[in-house]
Amino acid sequence: MKKIEAIIRPEKFQELRDQLYSIGIGGLTVTEAAGTGKQKGKQGLFRGTTFEIQLLPKLKLDIVMDDHQVNDVVNLIIETCGTDTIGDGKIFILPVEETIRIRTGERGTKAIL
Ligand SMILES: Nc1ncnc2c1ncn2[C@@H]1O[C@H](COP(=O)(O)OP(=O)(O)OP(=O)(O)O)[C@@H](O)[C@H]1O
Ligand SMILES: [Mg+2]
Repeated sequence: MKKIEAIIRPEKFQELRDQLYSIGIGGLTVTEAAGTGKQKGKQGLFRGTTFEIQLLPKLKLDIVMDDHQVNDVVNLIIETCGTDTIGDGKIFILPVEETIRIRTGERGTKAIL
């Protein structure tokens, strides 16, 4: 199992969620986040002046999945959340040791799908 942590533009969430469920993702966690990347929060140049350094609002998604789903999910996030401009976000992929559904005690793939 793997966990994808994706930092995305908030306005892209609804479409992405619908797409993720359509390819069989069983659940996800969303956290309101704030952060900066390569541009250190500078939005860009406006009449020669850089914007003040700031934290930009993002959503962080935690999605645990079976290994075979990772490529599809990554491609979906890139297609759905990409706008070809700075600040589109990032995807981190982490190993997950175990998943347990509390209600039934099911483990592994049975517990995530
Ligand atoms: N190295 C990192 N570690 C953790 N979070 C990060 C990292 N880089 C970016 N983020 C998170 O991702 C959000 C969006 O980052 P952003 O899309 O601006 O990345 P970038 O590397 O600057 O790429 P781009 O040049 O396309 O803007 C940030 O607000 C921050 O929350
Ligand atoms: Mg950036």
